Amino acid sequence: MKKIILLIISFVFVCSLLAQDIQLVSPQRTGGKPLMDALNERQSRRDFEKKELSPQMLSDLLWAANGFNRDDKRTVPTSQNRQEMDVYVMFDTGIYLYDAKGHVLKLIKKGDFRKDLGQANISDNAAFSLIYVANMDRASNREAGFIDSGFIAQNVYLYCASAGLGTVVRGSFTRPNLHNTMELTKDQEITIVQAVGFIK
Ligand SMILES: Cc1cc2nc3c(=O)[nH]c(=O)nc-3n(C[C@H](O)[C@H](O)[C@H](O)COP(=O)(O)O)c2cc1C
Repeated sequence: MKKIILLIISFVFVCSLLAQDIQLVSPQRTGGKPLMDALNERQSRRDFEKKELSPQMLSDLLWAANGFNRDDKRTVPTSQNRQEMDVYVMFDTGIYLYDAKGHVLKLIKKGDFRKDLGQANISDNAAFSLIYVANMDRASNREAGFIDSGFIAQNVYLYCASAGLGTVVRGSFTRPNLHNTMELTKDQEITIVQAVGFIK
């Protein structure tokens, strides 16, 4: 019996090592600063202290960005409710896809690919950068993917203002390199990236 239990524990451990997805804690969907205070404090920050967010902050920020606030609809609107946007998270250790239903960050690729983000002075000190990807085959049209990204970016700005974090949305990065690194398809388009971190 003891042997079987040990075998099961080892199997679960090996599986978790192989998967290496990051299970997020449940987002805290109440609280934060009053909206008018957050709007008053929203601004772009580019000087970050190299420090990780707590698991709760990471989960809350991603929920604010593109999480579900109803059974089948999200914290952000999308044209014709196509929900064509994916949010990826690039840490210095790898790239993950935010699975908003499962509260999981799914490992896409291990490694440090921050050079593809450009503006190293920003990306290298940020806790992570968010990468917004429009699935154009699902979008109502190409423009919608870019417009819908703006809602996500602003939610992140407001969450950061509320939580005392810094963020800056960025259009200047090497789009083809990042597209290749992320092994995206021809129907997927990176719209914009957004660095997040503790303010220096
Ligand atoms: C579409 C877009 C692209 C941007 N690209 C960059 C960028 O590549 N690098 C950067 O440092 N800031 C970038 N910004 C941030 C703007 O410079 C910033 O929002 C502007 O200076 C106003 O400052 P504020 O956000 O503090 O109000 C971008 C903003 C937007 C909306």
